Amino acid sequence: MNTAMQDAPAGRQGGGKLGAMVLEARGVVMRFGGLVAVNNVDFDVHEGEIVGLIGPNGAGKTTFFNCLTGMYKPTSGTVTFYGQTLPPKPRAVVKAGMARTFQNIRLFGNMTALENVMVGRYCRTSSAALTSILHGPKYRREEAESRARALELLKFVGLGKSAELLARNMPYGDQRRLEIARALATDPKLILLDEPTAGMNPQETAQAMDLIFRIRDLGLAVVVIEHDMRFIFQLCDRVLCLVRGEALIWGTPGEVQSDPRVIEAYIGGSELEDEEDA
Ligand SMILES: Nc1ncnc2c1ncn2[C@@H]1O[C@H](COP(=O)(O)OP(=O)(O)OP(=O)(O)O)[C@@H](O)[C@H]1O
Ligand SMILES: [Mg+2]
Repeated sequence: MNTAMQDAPAGRQGGGKLGAMVLEARGVVMRFGGLVAVNNVDFDVHEGEIVGLIGPNGAGKTTFFNCLTGMYKPTSGTVTFYGQTLPPKPRAVVKAGMARTFQNIRLFGNMTALENVMVGRYCRTSSAALTSILHGPKYRREEAESRARALELLKFVGLGKSAELLARNMPYGDQRRLEIARALATDPKLILLDEPTAGMNPQETAQAMDLIFRIRDLGLAVVVIEHDMRFIFQLCDRVLCLVRGEALIWGTPGEVQSDPRVIEAYIGGSELEDEEDA
């Protein structure tokens, strides 16, 4: 991946032909005891695409992500990445070229922003060790390269001035961008973002949209979970709406937006929550 960015116009691909298949899920089911969190879901992501995943709270979005990224082995169904079934091991999945961020931010709070991004590089360097005790010349060279690349990525996500800040002292929105930088450091072909704008103000949300378009323009395919509908419909080429673990609709933003069942699913969800809150 090359972050020497050309100023490609940001925007959706807009109904063009689909590129090569990157990720394909067929009939994915994930059960937790008696609960079917994901029920027979088909999904695919192609090169050059930004795909959205929406649905009310508890619909199974994060669980589905976990099935796609090797955190969970689906109860049944298949997930292939460039035609290969990956072992259900997050590390192998990252190495194959899939990276993700988490709904609940998972950074090393006591490490600097730069160090957090450098951690993402370790899966691509020959020195598997995170410690620097045995540093010979080779390791030092790799470390210098990792550092330079991490700095480049921090600049790319808009955190060039925050390299030396401890992650835990950074504003929430910056921590989300830092997670994206760390994911990019693994040199992925596909990046999956679980609620990348949660807790962001409107200005940060607009910046996040621009960042995701720029990530796509680098040649990555992107999957995004979000509750912010305006964000999803402006950003994505196709959108899957999950409700109670099942695919309600899978189509273009226009198709999903105009389906009354999608609004019903959300309104129904919030009414339930209101009752619970009462
Ligand atoms: N590890 C688990 N064990 C048991 N049940 C789980 C587990 N993870 C998720 N669930 C349940 O599966 C369902 C789907 O949860 P999930 O977190 O995937 O939803 P979501 O769509 O990501 O929701 P949100 O928008 O709130 O993040 C919920 O009923 C949840 O309680
Ligand atoms: Mg979730």
